[in-house]
Order: sequence, then C-alpha cells, then structure tokens
Amino acid sequence: MRAVRYHGPEQPFRLEEVARREPQADEVLVQVTAAGMCHTELHFKSGLLNLGITPLTMGHEVVGRIAAVGAGVSPERLGERVIVYYYVGCGRCRHCRVGDEHLCPQLGAEYGFISDGGYAEYVTVPARNAVPLPETIADVEAAPIGCGVTTAVHALKLAQPQVGEWVVVYGVGGVGFGLIQLARATGARVIAVGRSAAKLDKARELGAEITVNAREAAVAERIRELTGGAGADIIFECVGTAETMEQASKALGRRGRLVFIGYSLDSFTVHPIQLVVFEQQVLGSVGATLHDLYEAVDLVARGVVRTVVDRTLPLEQFEDGLNALERGELVGRAVLIPGTPDSERE
Ligand SMILES: NC(=O)c1ccc[n+]([C@@H]2O[C@H](COP(=O)([O-])OP(=O)(O)OC[C@H]3O[C@@H](n4cnc5c(N)ncnc54)[C@H](OP(=O)(O)O)[C@@H]3O)[C@@H](O)[C@H]2O)c1
Ligand SMILES: [Zn+2]
Ligand SMILES: [Zn+2]
Repeated sequence: MRAVRYHGPEQPFRLEEVARREPQADEVLVQVTAAGMCHTELHFKSGLLNLGITPLTMGHEVVGRIAAVGAGVSPERLGERVIVYYYVGCGRCRHCRVGDEHLCPQLGAEYGFISDGGYAEYVTVPARNAVPLPETIADVEAAPIGCGVTTAVHALKLAQPQVGEWVVVYGVGGVGFGLIQLARATGARVIAVGRSAAKLDKARELGAEITVNAREAAVAERIRELTGGAGADIIFECVGTAETMEQASKALGRRGRLVFIGYSLDSFTVHPIQLVVFEQQVLGSVGATLHDLYEAVDLVARGVVRTVVDRTLPLEQFEDGLNALERGELVGRAVLIPGTPDSERE
C-alpha cells in the first residue's frame, strides 16, 4: 500500500510503497478514507517534536472502514465506518486504570506519533480504538474530530470554563475552531485571536463574540479593554511562540487559567509573583482519552461542534497540504483522501 512516511528531523516526508500489517487478535484493519493534517506534523518535519521512531507513517486524524478483523473480533464489524483513537495505553498503569491512557508512560502504540498512522491506504489498530461513526457525519467532515475536536474537548475539561467567564482562543486553526464552539456552548464569552480575516470571520460564524486581529491590535491591551480591565479567565494558547505567550500572560486575569496546547521552539517565562498574587494557573493539555473521542463524535453528531475542512487532497499531494498549512493558508483542516487501492478497484 502507499503511505506518507517520516524519516527523521528536517527530512522531507516521502510517499512510499509499504507492506500493510494484517490484523492480529483483537485488532482490525481500517481502510482509510480520510486523514486530517494536523499542525503537529509540521513539528515532526521541523524536528521540534522528535520521538525518535523512523521510518514512520504520519497521520493521527483517521477515518475509514473496517476491511478485516483479527481473531476475537466480531465479523459483524466488517464494513463498519470508524474513527481511530490514536493512543494505546499499557492498560495497567495508574493513568490507564482511570482512563487517562494519553498519559501512559508505556504506550503500546500512538498512531502517527510512534506507530504507523493514517496517511496511508490502511492502518491496523485494536478493535476498541476503532470508534463507530454515525451515518450523519461524512468521512471528510469526521477526520478533524480525531485530534482537532478531541484536543478541544480534553482541554476544555481541564480548564473548566464557567458560565459568563471570558475565554480567549489564541490561534484559530484546527484545534481553535473546536474550542470556540465548545466554550460558547458552556455559556462562556469567547474572544478569538488570529492573524487573518478569513479565519476570524469563521471564528465569529462558529460562536466567537469578539475577534482580535493580532496584526492590527496589541492583543493583551485589547483583551484587558474588552474585559473591563479584568483580563481573561481562560486563555487557550494554540500557538506558543514568545510573542503569543507574552501577550497571553499579560492578558490573564485573577484566578486565570492559561492552558498550553500549541508550542514552538520558544520557552515560556513568567515571574512567580504574578501567579501568586493573582492565583493564576498554567496548565498543559495533551491529546485526549478514548472517552473524549466518543464525546467529540457525539458533539459533532448533535451539531454542537462543526468541523472545518478547507480542502481535500489525494494522498500523493500531501506536500501541498503541508505547505498550505505552514503558510497559514488553510481555514481549518486539509484532509487527505488515500483513495481506492488499484488492487481493489472493480
Ligand atoms: N496539545 C495537543 O494535544 C495538541 C493537539 C493538536 C495540536 N497541537 C498543537 O497546537 C497548535 C495548533 O494546532 P492546529 O492544528 O490547530 O494548528 P493550525 O490549524 O495551524 O492553527 C494554528 C493557528 O494559529 C494561528 N497563529 C499563528 N501564529 C499566530 C500569532 N502570532 N497570533 C495569532 N494567531 C497565530 C495561525 O493562523 P495564521 O497563520 O493566520 O496566523 C493558525 O490558524 C500546534 O502547535 C500543534 O502542534 C497540540
Ligand atoms: Zn493533532
Ligand atoms: Zn498505562
């Protein structure tokens, strides 16, 4: 089968012919129909994120159909439309025992990070990681749920926005669009910060009450103004550069929660006195639980959250998708369509 593979930091991804892995006991083979492209893939490419596993098939937002089942999996699942939960915890550690397998220190697999992912015609995963998709959600529309929406669901639970609180979504992309809608649905007041008019228009359409263009306004000052001087209760940092982290820190109010989702090469600096006297919290949020994915699917099925797909591309045009993402041209996700393999065309 064809797959887009990572070969190490600062190396280009390559489309290659690789063997697909047949499903073992309790596993399913998923024929991929849609694979979302996440900004994290750019961090692999640049070398910022280096998990040391090469070569590796990229892609952790994966939707498809069950094409084969291993021993112990009901043949009734053949043909089922599914979305992949990309972590496989050890199942025994204290994090796995309470369902936090995204924190497992001994992951058995993490598709698109340390295990072969979904930029491919097929991916093989445990049956429990193949989460059923309702018919009302189309494959392409579903792809960004796998990371974009689940990350938003998870981060929201950590930050716990309250009715009427000011929530800033800093960076309106794949993850940010999910956060805007979820925060709005909780009754919070949402300010979206971005750099392009098209993305900020989309942010307003999805429920941001106010948008701030970082190219046109001093972000922290503007947030202070908008909140009557109080500052934001929650800031979801989806960029993580020196500039955005400084603005976010300056815009954070008393008891404010600064939640890191995005990152760059830059480090975060804050004087503890700020955290002490304003009782602020700095949090990190990574990935999601299997339960978060079930909830994310349900939120999209119920229309509480809409995914945003800018374009679809055949697998071989992955480079165009990555370039567009890197240049900031995408409003939402680019989704790869691996297509029907020649061997199975009628
Ligand atoms: N923690 C997790 O579990 C998790 C999960 C998924 C992704 N991530 C990380 O989270 C970050 C966002 O991911 P994503 O997939 O949502 O990326 P994305 O779709 O590229 O969105 C990021 C957005 O940030 C905007 N941006 C960049 N610099 C900015 C600035 N200085 N001021 C305001 N906005 C700015 C970009 O818009 P412009 O280009 O128009 O400025 C872009 O729309 C990435 O670092 C990714 O690796 C983390
Ligand atoms: Zn991702
Ligand atoms: Zn574990």
